[in-house]
Amino acid sequence: MFKKTLLSAFMVLSLGSAGFAEEGGEHGVEDIAFSFEGPFGLFDKHQLQRGLQVYSEVCANCHGLNLVAYRTLGDPGGPELEAGQVKAYAAQFEAVDAETGDYRTAIPSDKFNSSTYDGAPDLSLMAKARAGFHGPYGLAFNPLFRGVGGPEYIVAILNGYTGEEKEQAGSVLYENTAFPGGWISMPPPLYGEDVTFSDGSPNDLKSEAIDMAAFLMWTAEPKMMARKNAGMIAVLFLSFLAIMLYLTNKKLWSGVKRKQWGGKGGPAEQGDPIE
Ligand code: HEC
Repeated sequence: MFKKTLLSAFMVLSLGSAGFAEEGGEHGVEDIAFSFEGPFGLFDKHQLQRGLQVYSEVCANCHGLNLVAYRTLGDPGGPELEAGQVKAYAAQFEAVDAETGDYRTAIPSDKFNSSTYDGAPDLSLMAKARAGFHGPYGLAFNPLFRGVGGPEYIVAILNGYTGEEKEQAGSVLYENTAFPGGWISMPPPLYGEDVTFSDGSPNDLKSEAIDMAAFLMWTAEPKMMARKNAGMIAVLFLSFLAIMLYLTNKKLWSGVKRKQWGGKGGPAEQGDPIE
């Protein structure tokens, strides 16, 4: 009976994930094995640095990241730029001084600029605001191990252009297989070889898109690594506590149990019944 239940549970689990892999989510969004997925996943700082470069050289022409402070580029668990690099990065931009209301050179405590292009949304939280996969697949473990596909959706958008264009109400729309509705007003931002990475990493369209999406996942959840660490410590501590409680419980009740069941030292051995 137990074996049968176990077997059917196993079947459901394997069928569930197989079905998911074939479907590939919605609108052709493909699952990508990002380094930060799963309970032990970590951001890859080199990938985040490459994503920051793509963002700065391409996307920042239209999009903003106005919830992200330059300072966080140096935080542990992020792109981990050195203090000097963070300062130099910020100094390329201008920010409005809170006290004087005038423009001045940006400093690390300022935030990235806001979107400048008409209709371009802020990208700070985009990776968490969109989902590539909808609904639980299999036994609903997939969201835990693969996420809900926000970064995958971004990769799919950047790779989803068919090359078709149309004009509608005075604006140009571009056909994109990943965008709900199929037509997006963002002109294709990446074609491949748009940037040159100093570490010699591949800069084809797909690789650039993946690095970009990883960076946007970090902007949307910069404290992910700290959160996972805290979670792991909590799980370890609770397991330890559970074992200690079990052993304490056993020890506390051992005398009583022995009497009840007539074991060693119990009434059966002493020869007198419990009153
Ligand atoms: C020429 C300006 C421009 C550039 C450059 C640009 N975008 Fe966009 N982007 C837009 C506009 C406009 C929209 C709104 C599209 C719409 O809703 O139809 C948009 C929307 C988006 C969306 C949201 C799609 C959705 O589901 O609503 C994402 C994600 C995105 N851009 C990512 C990027 C990334 C990543 C880059 C850099 C590689 C980039 N964009 C470069 C103009 C731009």
